[in-house]
Order: sequence, then structure tokens, then C-alpha cells
Amino acid sequence: MVNVQNLIMRYGNRVLFQDINLKLDRHKRYGLIGANGAGKTTFLKILSGEITEYDGDIVIPKANKVGVLGQNQFAFEDYTLIDAVLFGNKRLYDAIKEKEDLYVNGDFEDDAVNNRLADLEVICVEEDPTYEYDVNIGKILANVGIPVEDHNNLMSSLDSADKFKVLLAQVLYPKPDVLFLDEPTNNQDIETISWLENELKRHEGTMVVISHDRHFLNAVVTNILDVDYQKNS
Ligand SMILES: Nc1ncnc2c1ncn2[C@@H]1O[C@H](COP(=O)(O)OP(=O)(O)O)[C@@H](O)[C@H]1O
Ligand SMILES: [Mg+2]
Repeated sequence: MVNVQNLIMRYGNRVLFQDINLKLDRHKRYGLIGANGAGKTTFLKILSGEITEYDGDIVIPKANKVGVLGQNQFAFEDYTLIDAVLFGNKRLYDAIKEKEDLYVNGDFEDDAVNNRLADLEVICVEEDPTYEYDVNIGKILANVGIPVEDHNNLMSSLDSADKFKVLLAQVLYPKPDVLFLDEPTNNQDIETISWLENELKRHEGTMVVISHDRHFLNAVVTNILDVDYQKNS
């Protein structure tokens, strides 16, 4: 699923890790541990493609969808909850928004507008074959405990625990094959952490999660990866 080959990462002269070779299997959930500054966040950013300057190869089959739980809780304040989740499928989100805009502002006498609408329709069918993204998102939001009457409210109206739940829903909505989470339990209350444990245990693809929370790791992961290369060598 995820294949790491001869990975070497340096910041300046400092070697963070070298000669990392490992395979991350489908259906396994990995807990990434190691001391502060050991390189956990860097390793996850390399896996997820956010960092591209390293030696070696990270191979993730093209057909695999990768989901990364964002660190910025406030990135979607002006979005409705439905739109915030829909944004998890950026291709579909962009197509729907452009289509809505063209229907309101487009000149239907213009061939270019009509051609563009036809293209957007194709994207929508590809990404949402049954035309029920709003129903599906409503179900996901209900699953994470957000009442249906709130689904069209803005993210800014939610408390921190509920924002976090919507952001997790955003990542899960496109059904990622590979899921990366960097310290998702930080600043969460016990109820939210226990909720998160249950959500993540249901994830069927590959997962890598960084956490210092032993109880959380014991509950969620199937394997431990220790990035503390200096310590182990
Ligand atoms: N952009 C960067 N440039 C130089 N050094 C960095 C950069 N980002 C992180 N580091 C250093 O790399 C080491 C690993 O950082 P990080 O991956 O954040 O560790 P962890 O998540 O395990 O705490 C730390 O010593 C950190 O200071
Ligand atoms: Mg970190």
C-alpha cells in the first residue's frame, strides 16, 4: 500500500533518518511514536507528499486516495458544515461551486458556457454517481453526532470539539485508502478522544497516526513504528 524505499531525510547537516525501508499494509493502523523532535511530523509530511525534498522513494499506488487530517481547526469558518465536508472531495466541490455560479451568472446563449456546464456535469457524475452527495454528507455528519438542523450552519458557530468532528468527517468523506493524522488527540476532551477511537477503528485502509497518548494508541493501532532512529542505532 505504502512503500518506503531507502528514505534519507536531512535538515542541513543533521540526518533525521536514513535507510528507512518499510511497507505499510492495507488494513493496518500504525502508531508513530518517538521523542519530541525525533522527526515524526517530518516523516508523516514526507509520506503525505507535503515535503518533497528527501532522498529515496515513497510509493503509493496512484489509485489510492490519501487523506490528511488538517491541523488548522479554523480553516473553514465561513463554510457551512455540508460544504466543509464536501471540500474533502476537492474535485467535486470545485465542480459543484462552479456549476452553481454558472447557473446563476452564466450566459446560456454562449456555447463556451454550455460546454463548460457539460464538462462540469461529467465531473459531478464521476465523483458522485448517484447525485446524492448532500444526503451522504448529511449521514456522515449525523454519524459524528451533529444534529441535522445544524448542517447548513457555518463552521464558526461550532465549539472546538464539534469543529474537530466535522474536519474528521471531511477527511473520511472521500473514503481515503490511506489516512494520516498528526496528534489528533491534542487539546481534545475525553469524550471526543473516545469518539475518535471508535471512528478510527472502523477505518479499513492504511492509517498512520502520531500520538503520545498510550491509551489512545492501545485502543486504535495494530502496529507501532518508532522513528527514534538515533536511539535504536
Ligand atoms: N523546516 C525545518 N527546517 C529545519 N529543521 C526542521 C524543520 N522542521 C523540523 N525541523 C527539525 O527536525 C526535527 C524533527 O522535527 P519534527 O518532525 O517536527 O519532530 P516531531 O514531530 O517528532 O516532534 C526537529 O529537531 C526540528 O527542529
Ligand atoms: Mg510533531
